[in-house]
Amino acid sequence: MKLNISKASQFLAAGTVESYEAQVNEAQKALENGTCLGNDFLGWLHLPSSITPEFIAEINATAKVLQENCEAVVVAGIGGSYLGARMVIDALSNSFGWLKPSNMPRILFAGNNIGEDYLSELIDYLKGVKFGVINISKSGTTTETAITFRLLKKLCEDTRGKEEAKKVIVAVTDAKKGAARTTADKEGYKSFIIPDNVGGRFSVLTPVGLLPIAVAGYDIAALVKGAQDMEKATDIKVPFAENPSAQYAAVRNALYQNGKKIEILVNYQPKLHNLNEWWKQLYGESEGKDGKGIFPAAVDFTTDLHSMGQWIQDGERTIFETVVSIEKPNTKLEVPSDAENLDGLNFLAGKRIDEVNKMAELGTKLAHVDGGVPNMQVSIEKLDEYNIGQLIYFFEKACGISGIILGVNPFNQPGVEAYKKNMFALLNKPGYEKESAAIQEKLK
Ligand code: PA5
Repeated sequence: MKLNISKASQFLAAGTVESYEAQVNEAQKALENGTCLGNDFLGWLHLPSSITPEFIAEINATAKVLQENCEAVVVAGIGGSYLGARMVIDALSNSFGWLKPSNMPRILFAGNNIGEDYLSELIDYLKGVKFGVINISKSGTTTETAITFRLLKKLCEDTRGKEEAKKVIVAVTDAKKGAARTTADKEGYKSFIIPDNVGGRFSVLTPVGLLPIAVAGYDIAALVKGAQDMEKATDIKVPFAENPSAQYAAVRNALYQNGKKIEILVNYQPKLHNLNEWWKQLYGESEGKDGKGIFPAAVDFTTDLHSMGQWIQDGERTIFETVVSIEKPNTKLEVPSDAENLDGLNFLAGKRIDEVNKMAELGTKLAHVDGGVPNMQVSIEKLDEYNIGQLIYFFEKACGISGIILGVNPFNQPGVEAYKKNMFALLNKPGYEKESAAIQEKLK
């Protein structure tokens, strides 16, 4: 993985990036020594290097049981208990693989919304399918996931019988607390633990992400190896100028202090759409607090050049871009020649589609920089498990450093509770009587 900051630092006064070295080093030390805010959630910091081959083998063994017994596996989870697995699976999957017959289970995602139509349509589809469930919730009480799991558990038991269902329902949750743990223990489901000290958005390299990714057939050992190598590349001992996470954290904080309040993550590969979603959660939940924080936005190019492109080129100059660039596609396709050339495209004949995409990428970068948009580029060689593992840890480490520099606790999410409190009050959840009365007053 490479980071290029040259087209961002040109927007900053000379020496600005370097001036962050001391702050970044302090932030790194605070992470290492566990002296930063949120220091009870630092389990992600050396997570990659703590993963053993035995642990990977245990996850792969459970994945195999699901693969052998299921045509579909529903991954139920939301936020940090959803986005990491989705991001990796989408990035590695054939875009049209779900339309082809396969002997691998189809991976479906639910528990991340409360859409009645979505859930009805899912249940309807699953009625004819041998399916299993991975129920992922650290708290074990998240409403979206809990409602979905209740529906799926019932359907699975109704169709397979209670005993058979137990073989294909797996829980990923807290070691001791929460309804998901209680149910898993009582029913005797295979379960994996989400470590106490790893928050949802930093949990993709725990069974939260690793199990669904393994069930989808991907090499989780290679994913972890990529993250391990990035853990070394961003270690506290690596000099500031050579540490990509340190540099990224410094540049984005410098840009923020210079009025660039919005960061747009950009990709040029449709498969990376959910990298956007994972990254938005990682940075949004970590930094958006205490009235501060870069707003993390994201676009899929070239698609969104035909919608958001105008704003980015020409709107309020409060933005900067971080482009995730894939150096080589995994396949080969050229623009064909056409004798009649009715579409005038013969100037491209024989060129790889990726060459056209790369010229779109370069042309856009230059246009946006000319238009006053600082640009950083994160490049990986290709879309595979190893490179995605690197990307994951690079962004996580940078997020921890960046949040500390910003002066917030990057590892809590108190703001997420506000909607839950109102929703429970409106639904008359036992224990919310006072809140229910107060909210009814407000609605008068
Ligand atoms: O990052 C977070 O902590 C959140 O996004 C959680 O992952 C999300 O709310 C789901 O929580 P839980 O895993 O407890 O169901």
